[in-house]
Amino acid sequence: MKKKGKPVKKSQVEVNHLILPHETTPRGYVLGGIVMQMVDMAGAIAAHRHSRRMVVTASMDRIDFLHPIKVGHLMILKASVNYVSRTSMEIGVKVFSENILTGRQQHTASAYLTFVALDDNGMPTPAPKLISKTREERRRSRKAQMRRRARLREIKAKRR
Ligand SMILES: CC(C)(COP(=O)(O)OP(=O)(O)OC[C@H]1O[C@@H](n2cnc3c(N)ncnc32)[C@H](O)[C@@H]1OP(=O)(O)O)[C@@H](O)C(=O)NCCC(=O)NCCS
Repeated sequence: MKKKGKPVKKSQVEVNHLILPHETTPRGYVLGGIVMQMVDMAGAIAAHRHSRRMVVTASMDRIDFLHPIKVGHLMILKASVNYVSRTSMEIGVKVFSENILTGRQQHTASAYLTFVALDDNGMPTPAPKLISKTREERRRSRKAQMRRRARLREIKAKRR
C-alpha cells in the first residue's frame, strides 16, 4: 500500500565538502568522478529521507560540468525530490562551488537521478507520495514527469 504523502522540504539535503588535494587533477581541479560520487550520495540521502527505506540508484541522467572547482574551495550539493512515481523517485542535485575566502558561489553542475525504494527483501516497494506545496515545487514535479516519460521511452527503445 502506498504510504501517506511527505512534503518536498522534509527530505531536502545540503552537503558541504572541502576539496582536498587527493581529489583533484595535477592542476588542482576536482575530478569529475568525485563530483559524480558526491551527487549520487546527496541524491541517495534525499531518497532515504523521503522514503525511509533502503534505496538503489536506477539511473543518473547526463551531467555537464559548467565550471571547475579548485582545491581548497567548498563543493556544496543541494538535493531535492522532484517527483515520486510508485517505487521510484527523481532527485535533482545542484552543485555549487564556494571560494571560502570571498564567499563567492558558482553553479558548477546539475543532475537528475532516479532512486528506487526497496523493501526488506531488496525488492522495489512504494514510496510516500510527494507533496509539492509551492509553485516552483509543482513546476519541478511537472518537468520531472516529462523526463521520466522520456527516460522510460529511451529504456524501451534500447531493449528492442
Ligand atoms: C533499479 C532496479 C531496482 C529496478 O528493478 P526492476 O526489476 O526493473 O523493477 P521495476 O520494473 O518494478 O521498476 C521499479 C521502478 O524503477 C523504475 N526504473 C527501472 N529502471 C529504471 C531506469 N533505468 N531509470 C529510471 N527508472 C527506472 C521503474 O520505472 C519503476 O518505477 P515506478 O515503480 O515508480 O513505476 C534494478 O534494475 C536494480 O537493482 N538495478 C541495479 C541498481 C544498482 O545496483 N545501482 C547502482 C549501485 S547502488
